[in-house]
Amino acid sequence: MFDIDIALIKKYDKPGPRYTSYPTAPHFNESFTHENYLDEVIKTNQGQGLPDLSLYFHLPFCDTLCYFCGCNMIVTSNRERIKRYIDYLKCEIDLLRRHIASERKIVQLHWGGGTPTHLNPDEIVDLSSYINAGFDLHADVEAGCEIDPRELTKDHLIALRKGGFNRISMGVQDFNEKVQKAVNRIQPEDLTRKVIDWVRELGFDSINLDLMYGLPFQSAKTFEKTVDTIIDVDPDRIALFNFAYVPWMKKHQKVIRLQDLPVPEEKLDILKMSTEKLTGAGYVFIGMDHFAKPDDELTLALNEKKLYRNFQGYSTHAGADVYAMGITSISQFGRIYAQNIRKEKEYHAALDGGILPIAKGCYLSDDDLLRRRVITKLMCDFELDFASIEKEFDIDFETYFDWGLNNLNAMMADNLLSVENRMLKVTRMGRLLIRNIAMNFDGYIERKEDSARYSRTV
Ligand SMILES: C[S@@+](CC[C@H](N)C(=O)[O-])C[C@H]1O[C@@H](n2cnc3c(N)ncnc32)[C@H](O)[C@@H]1O
Ligand code: SF4
Repeated sequence: MFDIDIALIKKYDKPGPRYTSYPTAPHFNESFTHENYLDEVIKTNQGQGLPDLSLYFHLPFCDTLCYFCGCNMIVTSNRERIKRYIDYLKCEIDLLRRHIASERKIVQLHWGGGTPTHLNPDEIVDLSSYINAGFDLHADVEAGCEIDPRELTKDHLIALRKGGFNRISMGVQDFNEKVQKAVNRIQPEDLTRKVIDWVRELGFDSINLDLMYGLPFQSAKTFEKTVDTIIDVDPDRIALFNFAYVPWMKKHQKVIRLQDLPVPEEKLDILKMSTEKLTGAGYVFIGMDHFAKPDDELTLALNEKKLYRNFQGYSTHAGADVYAMGITSISQFGRIYAQNIRKEKEYHAALDGGILPIAKGCYLSDDDLLRRRVITKLMCDFELDFASIEKEFDIDFETYFDWGLNNLNAMMADNLLSVENRMLKVTRMGRLLIRNIAMNFDGYIERKEDSARYSRTV
């Protein structure tokens, strides 16, 4: 059970990165080109003992618009447009895979969106067969797909099983009708339960459900019913996202009226209630936003300090190179991050020209690599051994991180973390503020080079 101190959370709540990458995406730049990307692909596919691979495919299409949506999605019912996108995705697969060393195995595969199941079942089978034929999938590959139950048939799930998928992640957000109406996402509980029954019947290994707090008209009292229902539904994992309200970036979010959003105190009450209820029901708080059953791989990886964090959130596949395909998707390997083109037409044009569709990216400096290791360790292990970082990077930890360690004194006084024998340990309360703790090791913030507008941390 988790006893949350709301006053403390309120004290530290401020905008901050989610650290699915370091440097964070606002630091990617357009001087990093498709040629730089290809060079790095070629360079990192030479030699022996190459890391395993994680493949991400972005399928951006959705049937309707949820007003809260912060994802890179396209609402369309134009089936030709979707077909054309799949054809171009195959071109991207062809262009990339010829450079990937054939002995490299795919240990993780993810289809994200948008809503990948806005593809029809035949398209799902077609694309997954193409991927399976083009890459060498490990026998134990963790293959996950994001689904939206509202437009899903059992045939979609059968197609995913045929394609080798063994994990499902489903959006729920909130079961309350008034909330659902306000965000233009009507998803009755019966429907969600029916789809979960299908998922189980078809033998998928794991189900994750996404919930969201901070949506219009939510209160701790109403959201409690959603949490109770979720506990009853008994998924393997739960993501409890803080609604990222960024109307300056996602214009459609302006439809959501500020006066309908729960005030910060109410949001914190929702977070407190949800966290306490879920942990009370036996779920383990994994780290930012995530809960999992005690025997889930994420929990086991957390316990064994093998958890890893990338663009898809927490993962058990530390060290795998991430190749991402489809518009806006982000690849990560060697010393680079690279993001694909955002606009569909430009994405098609690049592929027509035989060019990998990279829009921007960045090379990691030695300083970036060091700070990424520190931030990843904090976000995943909730502890940091100064000596092991010193050994790996040949620095004097206290001198290098003088600015950040000084800032942490106040957090230490508030019992969010402790430092003993050069080992930093984040407390249970501190875990809820892990972004704020990590920000003290962020070189861009220290050097005041970060002018991006992030969502709030809690
Ligand atoms: C790509 S969607 C999941 C699949 C499917 N499109 C659906 O909505 O059911 C990924 C998840 O991102 C979360 N999400 C979307 N917009 C968000 C926002 N503005 N802030 C926080 N989380 C958000 C939602 O919980 C959503 O389920
Ligand atoms: S939340 Fe999911 S279904 Fe809704 S618009 Fe975003 S990606 Fe599409």
